[in-house]
Amino acid sequence: MATSTLKNGEKVMIREAIKDDAKPLLGFLDKVCAETNNLTFGPGEMPLTLEQEETFLESMASKEGAIFLVALNEKDELVGTTHFMAGTLPRTRHAGEFGISILKAHWGKGLGTAMMDVLLEWIRQQKSIRKVNLKVRADNLSAIHLYEKYGFFQEGRMSREYYVDGEFHDVLCMGLHIDE
Ligand SMILES: CC(C)(COP(=O)(O)OP(=O)(O)OC[C@H]1O[C@@H](n2cnc3c(N)ncnc32)[C@H](O)[C@@H]1OP(=O)(O)O)[C@@H](O)C(=O)NCCC(=O)NCCS
Repeated sequence: MATSTLKNGEKVMIREAIKDDAKPLLGFLDKVCAETNNLTFGPGEMPLTLEQEETFLESMASKEGAIFLVALNEKDELVGTTHFMAGTLPRTRHAGEFGISILKAHWGKGLGTAMMDVLLEWIRQQKSIRKVNLKVRADNLSAIHLYEKYGFFQEGRMSREYYVDGEFHDVLCMGLHIDE
């Protein structure tokens, strides 16, 4: 658990999600997917039940090499999430996928940076994790800037990976090596 002070002086708490976060998380997902076209789903495109979300959060909390973090503002509202999930097989468990999303009202205040700090510290503590992978829309400049700030490098570009409002979009594959 960590408390961070954002650029505007607001405080946020960043902690591992628990089963009881499932309900606010569903509300968060509904809102965030309507605020950006940079996620893999839009409004109504990923209908999860409360039970499914609870099961997901419980599995993230119990799985080795997996973590789901939530950021809560001073009113205890869920304003951001970030997660990492490593592979489970001996040949893939050193590497995993990363994702992050934040409500629009909180963009540009340093919350993404604060959440990356907490997540990458956890990843480094695991020792077993040696590679973080992510995919980002090639025109998502603030996200790319954030990732490059932490040493993520571009590994490739995939065309037509997203289809949003009748248009295809490329994504960049980015990676970060975790060395001892
Ligand atoms: C991408 C996202 C996580 C960034 O979070 P954030 O809280 O705004 O990030 P921060 O404020 O910590 O940092 C953003 C950085 O991008 C920079 N930035 C903002 N707009 C930029 C732009 N158009 N071009 C380049 N850099 C930009 C900021 O200056 C800041 O850099 P700095 O720390 O060096 O000053 C957030 O905007 C978000 O959730 N977006 C919607 C979902 C999404 O795109 N998720 C990522 C999918 S891969």
